[in-house]
Amino acid sequence: MLQGKTAIVTGAAGDLGNAMARQLAEKGAHIVMWDIVARAEAAEAIQRVAAHDAAVEYTEVDVRDRAAVDAAIADLPQLDIVCSNAGIVEAQPFLALSQENWQNHLDINLTGCFNVCQAAARKMVADGTAGRLILTSSWVGAIPWPEISAYTVSKAGVNMLVKQMARELAAHGILVNAVAPGIVNAGLAGRQLREEPQYAARVAKVIPLLEPGSPEEIAAAVLYLASPQTAYMTGSILTLDGGCSLFQFDA
Ligand SMILES: NC(=O)c1ccc[n+]([C@@H]2O[C@H](COP(=O)([O-])OP(=O)(O)OC[C@H]3O[C@@H](n4cnc5c(N)ncnc54)[C@H](O)[C@@H]3O)[C@@H](O)[C@H]2O)c1
Repeated sequence: MLQGKTAIVTGAAGDLGNAMARQLAEKGAHIVMWDIVARAEAAEAIQRVAAHDAAVEYTEVDVRDRAAVDAAIADLPQLDIVCSNAGIVEAQPFLALSQENWQNHLDINLTGCFNVCQAAARKMVADGTAGRLILTSSWVGAIPWPEISAYTVSKAGVNMLVKQMARELAAHGILVNAVAPGIVNAGLAGRQLREEPQYAARVAKVIPLLEPGSPEEIAAAVLYLASPQTAYMTGSILTLDGGCSLFQFDA
């Protein structure tokens, strides 16, 4: 399905990004993994993708660093799909929220997506590629969740960035959509579930489908957004949250 396509996945050493890279590679895409962690630290994650794309590339890129993003994109002969997925969460109650915590979330989760997507879109337009930009938002980009103001605001920004880019890039045939995962028992939420008892207690009450999601379920939605099946879809936020964002009486 994706033979001959090249895809960048940011945050590809992490749980969701790695699942995305694996599923895109399984369908034939050539994968360019980006992450801030050193190659040695990402060795296992690279290996899992290499099982499907022997030529997988790994580049250490900090998505906050615009010059590094531009240089890494300039190195690519071709670019068809971008999964702008790198992100962080660090809980701090609103009254204790530091300016540093606030700024870090905006810099990585939101400005990082701007840097990567604008640089990629410029290349796609220059190359005449009708590409796909797929951002990782979150269900909490639309619903407030306790103690993560900076994170929820950054994801709300991602949702509007998706719609804004979709509007302006449609004329170039570039489609822009997002996945909005709910609570996944891996990656950022997996760590919170293990380390923050108050988070685990809240999670136990808020998932109508009762179980957290998996990285594979989120990656399958990303694959759908990269596929020919979604050629008429742009500006959408595809939510996979087990019903979390439905109104609840007891949460
Ligand atoms: N896990 C969940 O339940 C969940 C739910 C909703 C949304 N998300 C979103 O999914 C995305 C992936 O998160 P995850 O859960 O797989 O966490 P993760 O920590 O496993 O992966 C995130 C990756 O991003 C990388 N990263 C961090 N800062 C970076 C930077 N400045 N430049 C480049 N890479 C950087 C990290 O090194 C890490 O490998 C994030 O955008 C997150 O907000 C996750």
